[in-house]
Amino acid sequence: MKLKILVLGGDGIGPEVTNEAVAVLKDVAEAGEHEFTFTERRIGGVAIVQDGTPLPADTLNEALASDAVLLGAVGGNEFNSLPPDQRPEAGLLKIRSALGGFANLRPAFAYKELAANSPLRQEIVEGADILFVRELLGGLYFGTPREWNKATGESWNTMRYTRDEVARVARVAFKLAQNRRKKLTSVDKANVLEVSQLWRATVNEIAFEFPDVAVEHQYVDAMAMHLMNQPRNYDVVLTENLFGDILSDESAVITGSLGMLPSATIGGKVNLYEPVHGSAPDIAGKGLANPLGAILTAALILRHSAGLETEAHAIETAVRKVLETEYRTPDLARANPNAFVVLSTTAMGAQVRETLQNILAVRS
Ligand code: NAD
Ligand code: IPM
Ligand code: MN
Repeated sequence: MKLKILVLGGDGIGPEVTNEAVAVLKDVAEAGEHEFTFTERRIGGVAIVQDGTPLPADTLNEALASDAVLLGAVGGNEFNSLPPDQRPEAGLLKIRSALGGFANLRPAFAYKELAANSPLRQEIVEGADILFVRELLGGLYFGTPREWNKATGESWNTMRYTRDEVARVARVAFKLAQNRRKKLTSVDKANVLEVSQLWRATVNEIAFEFPDVAVEHQYVDAMAMHLMNQPRNYDVVLTENLFGDILSDESAVITGSLGMLPSATIGGKVNLYEPVHGSAPDIAGKGLANPLGAILTAALILRHSAGLETEAHAIETAVRKVLETEYRTPDLARANPNAFVVLSTTAMGAQVRETLQNILAVRS
């Protein structure tokens, strides 16, 4: 199997966590005699500083010529006063749009071993296994008009969707639900917003194509609460762009840390893989970042861009097995630091790789 992967570490902890994910992928390639090639380019704040733009043309060209793109995170406090279209985040939105993936899969899984790290009671979180399907190319992020008119003191963004944009992401979510527990919860604000009424009507229409999947609708405000009260109630959760951004970070409370969450964006020309978390300027450069979200993102590359399900599963098993030990990054030891051996980003990566080597050795 040949795979050309573009690595965009980005800013803050981005490169720290993608380094660990790449090391894991290199081990998988070696063990299975696969040919994975890795190319690096700049995006975000580092690209603003060195190239004068958050998404250099060369980065985008490389991305379009790759089989998969692995992105760490972008953003930094020094760019916070820039207007949205000049910030590091603009580079991320531009590459998302150019690669064309519209379905952002964000699994949130409550590992038994991390239950104590959640402020929710163990019996609430244990067994929770949710797959958020976040629409990634529409809504407020891309809708026009958008403006901050400083002269009049007005500003506006536009939450805009077409029926086709809703239909295509809904189909992805229904198909995924068919291979899971066959339940789909669609999130909207149809009691207030026309755009949500279109969303709900379209989801109901697409539901006829998937009679084996049970559909329910929740308003986003109530959903934010239900997710904390009864996370095990949810299987596939389908959302528009901003609602999915917010609810997926909230789901870090179920999992125990934002640093655990992976994502894959599919449906376009080239799939884009990013951990859910950001550049975490508060801990960057100190070896404190949890690389497991990025490593689980590497597993999603193997699953969705390479068809290497066995290897993807091996990575996920290795992560779970490490969590069964006393090893934790600081964010995962929060609840009771004295009970654990606290590891740096690279040391945690090394633990996963050692465990993975054993799993791969048994299988070969
Ligand atoms: P953040 O996700 O960077 O951090 C939120 C909190 O979670 C922080 O306390 C951070 O230390 C912690 N955290 C995040 N990832 C962690 C990890 N792997 N291990 C341990 N702890 C972790 O969100 P923020 O602070 O609101 O944003 C910082 C910057 O990141 C902003 O510029 C934002 O726009 C950007 N951002 C980028 C992406 C992306 O590139 N995909 C995603 C989210 C935020
Ligand atoms: C995420 C991030 C991004 C988003 C930002 C940095 C543009 O929060 O990937 O969740 O809002 O999509
Ligand atoms: Mn986010």
